[in-house]
Amino acid sequence: MSEPVLWRRRHLLGLEPLTADEIRFVLDTARTFKEVSTRSVKKVPALRGKVVVNAFFEDSTRTRMSFSLAAQRLSADVIEFTEKGSSVSKGETLIDTARNIQAMGVDIMVVRHAAAGAAELLSRHLDCSIINAGDGAHEHPTQALLDLYTIRERFGRIEGLKVAIVGDIANSRVARSEIWGLTKLGAQVILVGPTTLLPRVFEKYGCQVTHDLDSVLGEVDVMYMLRVQNERMKAAQFPTVREFTKLFGLTWDRFQRCKKDVLVMHPGPMNRGVEIQSDIADGEHSAILEQVENGLAVRMAVLYLLNQAGNASSGDSTTGVSPEKA
Ligand code: NCD
Repeated sequence: MSEPVLWRRRHLLGLEPLTADEIRFVLDTARTFKEVSTRSVKKVPALRGKVVVNAFFEDSTRTRMSFSLAAQRLSADVIEFTEKGSSVSKGETLIDTARNIQAMGVDIMVVRHAAAGAAELLSRHLDCSIINAGDGAHEHPTQALLDLYTIRERFGRIEGLKVAIVGDIANSRVARSEIWGLTKLGAQVILVGPTTLLPRVFEKYGCQVTHDLDSVLGEVDVMYMLRVQNERMKAAQFPTVREFTKLFGLTWDRFQRCKKDVLVMHPGPMNRGVEIQSDIADGEHSAILEQVENGLAVRMAVLYLLNQAGNASSGDSTTGVSPEKA
């Protein structure tokens, strides 16, 4: 168990700026909130009277619903913004749209946007707390936190584990956040993908880079499969989907060459039969639905900690409810 650290951050923009102790502190806080989900009344008053907005300028199923439910379980008022059907189509800028949403008395804004740096930009122009729920190919910190939580829960540790992240690394914000989180907590990260989707520059982040999936199958504890991101893909980064599956898909044949207790993960949404074979995704080694379940506890923890930091910086101690007392 890590030393308790005082959480002072008002924004969560990525895992790159966080220390290992801060990451462990979020995971420990999430464990407390996971217990809340087992109660018959799954709600605590920690964010009562606070307003959380989900500002999603890009599509999402899991992340948006998970943040919504997490905020509701903390008793916050939750409002939803989606770009489709909004005044963005009339030419309003991101900052103007966000400032107008904030003017409704928002305390925490959860932002997803196709442009890398969008959440950071808003954190400089707005007064509320900002959570990055995915910005272009940059970072998706809560996805990595829930994955770290899931790995730690299954193995009892993260340090010393070997984690292969496989597929479309270049276009993946999930991969970048995973790399920061896993390496800070002492795991060894092996990145696997075609040269067009995995530039050598990733070696400078302390990862092993290989283009041969078969060569690492027997040594890894976690196989983390990424979605092929067609919407971010520049023209022809690999020849055909069939070719990709042949070289980098988690097929049944490859799965049988993995360690006996290998953990299979995917952030979703998955392309069944492309990066992962269906029966492996649904099998007992798969943690895919556990990842979603843990996402709720992790997002409750993040909302709770940012709110505490916001209260502290504004001198408001009226909502200082600890998760244990909640
Ligand atoms: C990821 C995303 O949107 O970045 N999905 C998610 O949030 N669970 C991964 C992806 O889209 O491939």
